[in-house]
Amino acid sequence: MNLNGAPVIAIDGPSASGKGTVAQRVAASLRFHYLDSGALYRLVAYTAMQSEVDLTDEAALSDISRDLNVVFTGAKILLKGEDVADAIRAEICSNGASKVAAYPQVRSALLGRQRAFRQVPGLVADGRDMGSVVFPDAVMKIFLTADAETRAQRRYKQLMEKGIDANISTLLQDIRDRDARDSNRSVAPLQKGADASLLDTSALNITQAVDEVLRRYGEICAKPA
Ligand code: C5P
Repeated sequence: MNLNGAPVIAIDGPSASGKGTVAQRVAASLRFHYLDSGALYRLVAYTAMQSEVDLTDEAALSDISRDLNVVFTGAKILLKGEDVADAIRAEICSNGASKVAAYPQVRSALLGRQRAFRQVPGLVADGRDMGSVVFPDAVMKIFLTADAETRAQRRYKQLMEKGIDANISTLLQDIRDRDARDSNRSVAPLQKGADASLLDTSALNITQAVDEVLRRYGEICAKPA
């Protein structure tokens, strides 16, 4: 399983918990690679919607997953050469992603692609099943969360900053629906594994959350092998 010895830090958690920002900053600080696994599910939903594929057609969705022509480069996500980084963040893709992510064939079609991100000197991967399924031998597994109201507030602020109109109670409902779908699905459900350490960021800002992850990683590295 340990493909090339590069250490993996797995950061899993619910939607809008801030794990993406935390994971990216931890990766930058350690000069590790970064995998935003949620983007892959978003890309599948986006492609399906663009090509009018039904989000319940598991076989077609798995073909899309296998054939995704995507390049991650800096902040850009190039799908067949077109930057869709912003487009896949839209709420419609968030909801679509959590629907397509419930299909086992989609998940297995994306597995190899995710594992290929594991390169020296190391990888920080964020998602729902990084520690449980994709990188079970990760050196550190964090379950990063915050209460639903805090997450809805953060998402609201983010959208406002981008000039996108939003309604806080709709956002809260979306977050609750997505949590329920992600936690109750039969394959790779969102849950804190016994070997993951909990990091509740409800009362932390991003810098504090990043520092805490780095502190925990430093502790692991300092332990004699
Ligand atoms: O992390 P993000 O919100 O971008 O993920 C979008 C959706 O993709 C999630 O709601 C979840 O259903 C799905 N997902 C997943 N497994 C992952 C990452 C994301 O099922 N590793």
